[in-house]
Amino acid sequence: MSLRLGDTAPNFQIDTTNGKIDFHDWIGDSWCFFFSHPADFTPVCTTEMGRTSQLDAEFASRNVKSIGLSTDTVEEHFKWIEDVNDTQNTTLKFPIVADADLEVSSMYDMIHPGESETAAVRSVFIIDPSKKIRLTMTYPMSVGRNFDEILRVIDSLQLSDKEQIATPADWQVGDKVIIPPSISNEDAAKIFPQGWDEIRSYLRLTQV
Ligand code: BEZ
Repeated sequence: MSLRLGDTAPNFQIDTTNGKIDFHDWIGDSWCFFFSHPADFTPVCTTEMGRTSQLDAEFASRNVKSIGLSTDTVEEHFKWIEDVNDTQNTTLKFPIVADADLEVSSMYDMIHPGESETAAVRSVFIIDPSKKIRLTMTYPMSVGRNFDEILRVIDSLQLSDKEQIATPADWQVGDKVIIPPSISNEDAAKIFPQGWDEIRSYLRLTQV
């Protein structure tokens, strides 16, 4: 079953490099960046694990917990983390799920048999504190993910939850945002007293 935006992220209990977790309890009141990768001791994955660890403070400042997954054992993960730390100049602290029997990767549709029957592809799930899935992305095995984009999407989701806005293409923090067409000009005047630029009646940009 494929998971869709707005679905509740399926819960699971499983061993990780930080001990056994109940996924929902572990997320608690935080957001979650849940990402899978094909295998330990592989080059692209090593850079992705390192990058996630290097960005610990960026994720924490957004109240986001990171958790990785691959279809290897905890013992293999521990050995690999030593390599990640050595080669990527970091100290990896977030948990990595040991999904050797494919329980979680099947539940989250991370196994794409056209790519591999046994290894997970590069899936991303951004999950909010109510455990709703807010973003999914799937990258092929040969392409390392863009972590600036992952942080950018989290910034956009958190801002749109707070401010009743949407964000335009390539938006970055501090750029103008979009007043959704569902908000009338009359209501917009109350919500956005700072005003807006009306490019078209359906395209109104404001600063928040
Ligand atoms: C990698 O992480 O480098 C990788 C893993 C599986 C297939 C291709 C590349």
